[in-house]
Amino acid sequence: MKTEILEIDPSKIDKLKIKKAARVIKNGGLVAFPTETVYGLGADALNPSAGVKIFEAKNRPLDDPLIVHIAEKNDLFKIAKEIHKIALDLTAEFWPGPLTLVLKKSEIIPDIITGGLNTVAVRMPSNPVALSLIKEARTPLAAPSANLFGRPSPTTAQHVLADLTGKIDLIIDGGRTNIGVESTIVDLTRQPFCVLRPGGVSLEKLRAIIPQVELFQPKDVLAPGMYPRHYAPRARVILVQTNGKARVGKVRKLAAELESQGYSFGILTTEENRSKYGDYNVESLGPGADLAACAANLFSVLRDFDRQDVDVIIAEGVKEEGLGLAIMDRLRKAAGMVKEE
Ligand code: TXA
Ligand code: MG
Repeated sequence: MKTEILEIDPSKIDKLKIKKAARVIKNGGLVAFPTETVYGLGADALNPSAGVKIFEAKNRPLDDPLIVHIAEKNDLFKIAKEIHKIALDLTAEFWPGPLTLVLKKSEIIPDIITGGLNTVAVRMPSNPVALSLIKEARTPLAAPSANLFGRPSPTTAQHVLADLTGKIDLIIDGGRTNIGVESTIVDLTRQPFCVLRPGGVSLEKLRAIIPQVELFQPKDVLAPGMYPRHYAPRARVILVQTNGKARVGKVRKLAAELESQGYSFGILTTEENRSKYGDYNVESLGPGADLAACAANLFSVLRDFDRQDVDVIIAEGVKEEGLGLAIMDRLRKAAGMVKEE
């Protein structure tokens, strides 16, 4: 299959190009498109045979459910049922934006989309390209991140091309996504309400609306789609979580060991510490005090190291506040580790 690329400027949307992309969706095809978090791989959420194609293109297990994207808040009532007030409080505050709600699913959503679950994940993105595409297609879009299963999520159209060229019909290039990590997923069908995945909406902001929400602990139960190594570059990732000054020493020690064993490696750090690693191969996420900037660069730095074909990435941990929680979640999953060192 030939994959076509359409450039669309989010600040000056070309309606003709959106129409073309919407036609592909209507015909049951696959369109990768930018959201404010990461690029999504979209198909008509109400068309089961289009849904199947998403799993095939990504190599994704069929029991890993997809997020349904809508362009009007009221469409939530078509997709989900038993919508309590807390859901509306959350959508009033965070939609359009990087928050996904898990609710009881309505009958119109095919089983293939939800992996057979009786719940559905729904979100209204804020990226104008995403919103125009959904509106023009006149159907909700099922869209996981537009990467091969297990790989870091794409934050540019080039990342999508690297993973999915020849496997999908169309890629809309709308430039770099600005949040850079995926949406926060809140499950409102569990008691207590639970964050299944930290993401673009910080836990602090979420708790201002629902104070009782808890962080899901992957050690206790395995939720659908929570596979051990995820968001992962090809290189092995070692996450150094040591706090304070000792962290730099730990990274240096690991680097010296890898060097003496003849491995090629890269160090992932923040701007402040860059100079502490001398001539080693270092990439910075951004200023450690600006975790939103660091989140925006995370996946593309992981992919950069892959292009350099390093054997190992030594990743320095960041503070687990604000978007730092999402960064640490992705780094732990990339490292295939859950327990603290
Ligand atoms: O920011 C995002 O959320 C991006 C953009 C494209 O919107 N999408 C995204 O989708 O990250 P994906 O498929 O890569 O991750 C969706 C996660 C999966 O891990 C899946 O397990 C979970 O959402 N999920 C979907 N439906 C669910 C459900 N009914 N119950 C529990 N988890 C669900
Ligand atoms: Mg994903």
